Order: sequence, then structure tokens, then C-alpha cells
Amino acid sequence: MLREINKLLTVRDFLLILYTMIIEAPIYKEIYGPLRIYEVQKVIKLDTETESVVNNFLFNVPREKIQNLLKDLAIVVPLKDELLITLDGVLKAIPHKCPIIVVSNSKIEAPNNFRQEVDLIKHFATLTNSQVILIHQKDNGLAKAFDKTGYHAILDKDGYIRNGKGEGMVVGLMLAKMLGAKYVGFVDADNYVPGAVNEYVKDYAAGFVMSESPYTMVRLHWRHKPKIIKKKIYFRKWGRVSEVTNKILNLLLGYLTRFETNIIATGNAGEHAFSMELAEYMEFSTGYSIEPYELVYLLEKFTNENGNEKSKDIYDHGIDILQIETLNPHFHEEKGQEHILDMLLSSMSVIYNSSVATEELRTIIQEELKTHGVNLEEVELKKPHVLPPVSTIDFNLWKDTLLSNAETLLVFERN
Ligand code: GDP
Ligand code: CO
Repeated sequence: MLREINKLLTVRDFLLILYTMIIEAPIYKEIYGPLRIYEVQKVIKLDTETESVVNNFLFNVPREKIQNLLKDLAIVVPLKDELLITLDGVLKAIPHKCPIIVVSNSKIEAPNNFRQEVDLIKHFATLTNSQVILIHQKDNGLAKAFDKTGYHAILDKDGYIRNGKGEGMVVGLMLAKMLGAKYVGFVDADNYVPGAVNEYVKDYAAGFVMSESPYTMVRLHWRHKPKIIKKKIYFRKWGRVSEVTNKILNLLLGYLTRFETNIIATGNAGEHAFSMELAEYMEFSTGYSIEPYELVYLLEKFTNENGNEKSKDIYDHGIDILQIETLNPHFHEEKGQEHILDMLLSSMSVIYNSSVATEELRTIIQEELKTHGVNLEEVELKKPHVLPPVSTIDFNLWKDTLLSNAETLLVFERN
């Protein structure tokens, strides 16, 4: 097999694919309308030479292709009052070619955390000659840009941008569009391990190289989420909440396709990336329901499809949803038990309130919540607040309004 392949390659091709990343090939998938949801693909080796591995079950992603793609992949870092040292590590680990967009909702009143972030980012950008954009979520000019373009769902009753990571992501997405990025990836600022961040970005790029469609989403899966237990690191299997979210999402998908499945493993995957064409088409919810809502939204969309022009193009190409299992564990700032319950409730609410959920599924969700100690008489499974697709925004008007009114926008270009 190797010899046959070599015969077909020119010397240049061979050089091109010599250095690669090896990932399990996307073999098994579930199909629903234009959606192709692939099974988790493990990273087998981050850096290798093709000579040693040729196998139909493995995918060699040429490193040169990954490098070429990075310049078009903007990395958005949503940030709210994180340790400066973790932010610093995250920024330093993002591959140099990726434009970086930091959307901060950190405190401005004393202590002025934002001020410290500005200093850190200025220093980082000049020291490393990196391309970085920074803005504060509560910037008046930013709110004005959304107000003028009629995108009111992102504003609160006082006319500011609402709090929330989802809102920060949409701001980041618009800034990525302003830079002309073809892909946008999200990386949390609270990651303790810079090397993991570096891998995540390359995994996104590898996903886009593997995808066959301009409409692509790459979601990361972790095998382990280490915890400190009795002064020792314990590599706990990833995500208790994720397990529940995945189970319910899989039931939903199974009802729709009429084939039971367990393909969804990234219901709560905070680290994920989109091709711009898909990102602009997405609705985003807020709070901890963003990631599961993305899947629910796509399932709803292609259950109640009304066949407009864009969706014709989407049907022609399909939407690839890749789930990549990283080599690095996910080791981030722990925010306590309440946070976990909040995540479970908002994830369940999204599915519970979906137009495609069946009564049977709603009962299963209630049972599941009860076993996790939730008293359903005290909590309400509220419909999430949803931000419409950014493709509905008049982009030039948004950009002009932002550039002439922004108060906290900082742009560092490379020399
Ligand atoms: P988890 O990792 O999903 O448990 O959630 P985190 O609380 O760690 O939040 C994920 C990322 O979003 C972190 O980098 C936070 O600093 C950031 N974040 C949280 N809330 C906001 C917000 O209101 N606005 C912005 N821009 N970022 C936020
Ligand atoms: Co976190």
C-alpha cells in the first residue's frame, strides 16, 4: 500500500505530506438532513512522518496544510476576571499566525481588572509581534453598533451588551469577520496548561483540513479532566454534566432519525470552532447552554426546514460536525458546585424547551434532574435567551459605527 501511494506522488507532494498530524479517520457518522455528525476521532500523534504510518483507519493531516490554515483562523478568547497568569499562558500558546481576539467582561470598577488585562496584552503583543484585538464587552460604541443594526437581542434594558460568554462570543465573531477570517475558534482564558491550548488550535485546523464542506464545526472532547483529590492529581473521566447532556442529546437525535445512537460526545464542549460560513448561520444561546444549544438549533433547523436559498447551499454541501479527542487533558479553573448545577439545568432546559423534543424525552429530562437532586417545584426549566444569526446584521454599518464610537478597542498589528 505504501509503495503504491508513493508511486502516485511527485517529490513535491511527498515533501508536503512528510510531516503530519495523525488523527483517527472520520469513518462512522450519523446523518440527519444535511448534518453529518462524526464519531469522536482521537488524536493519535501530534507530530509525525507519514512514512511510518499508512492505514485506512487513520488520517494523516499534512502539517503544512495546518500551518497554511492558521492565518485564516481567528481565535476568540472570552474573558471575565480570570487569573492574569492563566490568560498570559493562553495568549502565548496560540500559534503565531492566528489573529487573536480578546473580548473581556472583567471588572472596571476597583479593582480594575480590565486595566491589568490591557497592560498584559499590550506587553504580549509588542513582545511577540502578534496580531491582537481587545475590546471590553460593556463598551458603549460596541453596544451602539449592535443597536444601530437592529441586533437588540444582545442588549440589556439599559442599552449595554448583556453579561455572558455567549454575548462575548458573538462580539468575537463579528470582530473575526471584520478581520476577514475564514474560520473562528474559541479558547477559554482559564486554561492552566498553555501546551493544551496550542494543541486545541491545531486540532481545530486539522478538523477543517479533514472536512469536506464549507460548513464545518469542530468540537473538542477530552478524555480526562484532572482534579486535585487529597493532594494528588486524579485523572477523572471528563464531565459528569457532559454525560447527562450527551445522553439526552443522543436520545433526541435517536428519536429524530429513529435509530438509537450514542454518537454525540461533546454536548458541553466549550472549546470549539466554526467555519465562518456556518458561524454566521448559527443562533447562539446564552449562559451555560450555548454548546448544547448549537446542536439543538441545527436539529430544529433541519426538522422545520422551509427551503430558502442558503439552506439549499447547505443541503448541497452538508454540514460537517467533527468531534476530536485531544491528547492533552483539560485542566481549568474550578468554579464550584453551584456552577455545575447551573450547567446541568441550563443544558437540560435547552433540550426540554426544544420544538423537536417529545413528551417522552421531557419526562426523561425531569427524571434525570430529580436523580441529580433538583427539586422541580423550585426551579423552572426556562427557555434560553437566544441571539439570532449574525448574518442578519448589516456588517458595514456595524463596523463603521464601532470604529467611530468604540472607547476600549485596541488593535495591535504585526510589523
Ligand atoms: P466553564 O469552563 O464552561 O466552566 O466556564 P467558565 O466560567 O470557565 O467560562 C468560560 C470562559 O468564558 C472563561 O474564559 C471565562 O473567563 C469566560 N467568560 C465567562 N463569563 C463571561 C462574560 O460574561 N463575558 C466574556 N466575554 N467572557 C466570559
Ligand atoms: Co473554565
